[in-house]
Amino acid sequence: MTGIEELLLSRIRDVADYPAPGVLFKDITPLLADPAAFTALTDALAGIAQSSGATKVVGLEARGFILGAPVAVRAGLGFIPVRKAGKLPGATLGQAYDLEYGSAEIEVHAEDLSADDRVLVVDDVLATGGTAEASLQLIRRAGAEVAGLAVLMELGFLGGRARLEPTLAGAPLEALLRL
Ligand code: PRP
Ligand code: MG
Repeated sequence: MTGIEELLLSRIRDVADYPAPGVLFKDITPLLADPAAFTALTDALAGIAQSSGATKVVGLEARGFILGAPVAVRAGLGFIPVRKAGKLPGATLGQAYDLEYGSAEIEVHAEDLSADDRVLVVDDVLATGGTAEASLQLIRRAGAEVAGLAVLMELGFLGGRARLEPTLAGAPLEALLRL
């Protein structure tokens, strides 16, 4: 394990049985509260953004906003929020996706993405891949190109990487930690 991996991992807190019994929640708030760790995370993701040739960073509400916005600033790129449905005031494109129980929808302002854009999606966790998959579909439907997906951590046992393979269509999936 590299130094940065050790630093990041040491600042992620495991919380048993949250938000439901049997779930081991990965709490990133200790990492956010540590300026050295948060800066190292931001720099690593900004490096991925720059080498991917991205023109925009998309962050996925809510934790993807916390990580994605400083990455965009550090990489010198625009930031675009993909929000849970009903929060954006302008004309939106929406994408529904399935949850374990029921479904959810995310939205983006249609005018924020165009055919000239290459988009890196940033989020904290890749779990089943449902959220990321919907965001990639949204970006393509907006006419933009997918530069890749970058996450702090990938929960490998949930199979998100395999699920996303067809949707990523060769674009890279970078996980700083594979747990
Ligand atoms: C969490 C996490 C990822 C997503 C991963 O978001 O932040 O965005 O789930 O799960 P998946 O790969 O199975 O889709 P969530 O919407 O639960 O909470 P948040 O609003 O705090 O980001
Ligand atoms: Mg989230």
